[in-house]
Amino acid sequence: MASDRYFLHHGILLPTVVHNEESLKYANDFKVQDSDVFAITYPKSGTTWMQEIVPLVLNGGDLTPVQTIPNWDRVPWLEETRAALVLNRLPSPRAMVSHMPYHLMPPSFFPSKAKVIYVTRNPKDVMVSSFHFHKMASFLDDPGTFDEFLNKFLSGQVLFGKWTDHVKSWRNSDLGDRILYITYEEMVKDLRGVLERLSRFLGRDLSEETLDRVANHCCFSNMKLNAMSNYSLVPQEIMDSSKSPFLRKGVAGDWKNHFSPEQDFKFTAVLKEEMNGTNIKFPWDE
Ligand code: A3P
Repeated sequence: MASDRYFLHHGILLPTVVHNEESLKYANDFKVQDSDVFAITYPKSGTTWMQEIVPLVLNGGDLTPVQTIPNWDRVPWLEETRAALVLNRLPSPRAMVSHMPYHLMPPSFFPSKAKVIYVTRNPKDVMVSSFHFHKMASFLDDPGTFDEFLNKFLSGQVLFGKWTDHVKSWRNSDLGDRILYITYEEMVKDLRGVLERLSRFLGRDLSEETLDRVANHCCFSNMKLNAMSNYSLVPQEIMDSSKSPFLRKGVAGDWKNHFSPEQDFKFTAVLKEEMNGTNIKFPWDE
C-alpha cells in the first residue's frame, strides 16, 4: 500500500504509528512466562474491553489499576513500540493484548503454559467499527466510501490482514485448555456470565458481589466515562472523538444500519466461502 502510514510484516498491514521493525523484533524475542495472560483480538473486536476486564478479574475486582493507569500501559500490546518500556514492569501475572495471528506469536509462547483469551466479533460489526475508527484516527488513511472500505476489508488490505485468516489461525490453534474462546456478542448479552467463565479460566474465585462490581464497572456507559480507557487522553489531532468517539456504540448488529442488501449478500458469500470446511460456528451464523 502506497502510504507512509503502513508497512507490511509477513504480508499483513501494520500502522507505522505504533509498530516498527524494532518493536516487532522485541515482540518476537519476548520471553513468555507460564503465568502470562494474553487477550488476543482482531482489531475492533473488544480489545479495550479486555484491557478493562482482565486486570479486574486477576486482581479480585480492585478498581485501582483501571482508574489510574491508561489501558495501553495497564494491559499493553505485545507488538507495539511501548512494549519495551512497559512489559517488563508489569506486575505478575502479566496481562497483555495482541492482534497477532497465531503463527506470528513469539517462539517462547508455544511451549509455555501462558493462557489466551481469544475474542471474536461479528465481522460485519468489526468492519463498521473499523470504518468509523479510520475516520477519527489521523494516523490511518481515510477509509473512502463504505463500499470501498468493505472491499478492502474482504480482500485483507486492512490492519492485521484478513479477518478470516486471523480467526482461522487462532481457532485451529492447538492450545487445548490454555485458550478460552469468547465472543463480543456473548459479552454484550451476558457480561456477568462471561466474567464467571473468565474468572474460572484464570483460576480466580470471585464472590458474587465482586462479579457484580466488575460487570457494573465494565458496562459500556461506565467505560465511556473512564478517562483511563476512553482514549480522551489522546490529543484530538490524533484521535478526533468529535468525528466518532472511540467507544462509539458498543452494540451487536450495528452493521444492519450500514450494509445495503447487496453488500450484505456479497460479504456473507465471501465469508462463507473462506470459512468453508472449518467447522467454526458463530452465534451470528444461526
Ligand atoms: P463500536 O465501534 O462498534 O462501538 P477495540 O477495543 O478492539 O478497538 O474495539 C472497539 C469496539 O469495542 C468499539 O465498538 C467499542 O465501542 C467496543 N467496546 C469497548 N468497550 C465496550 C464495552 N464495555 N461494551 C461494549 N462495547 C465496547
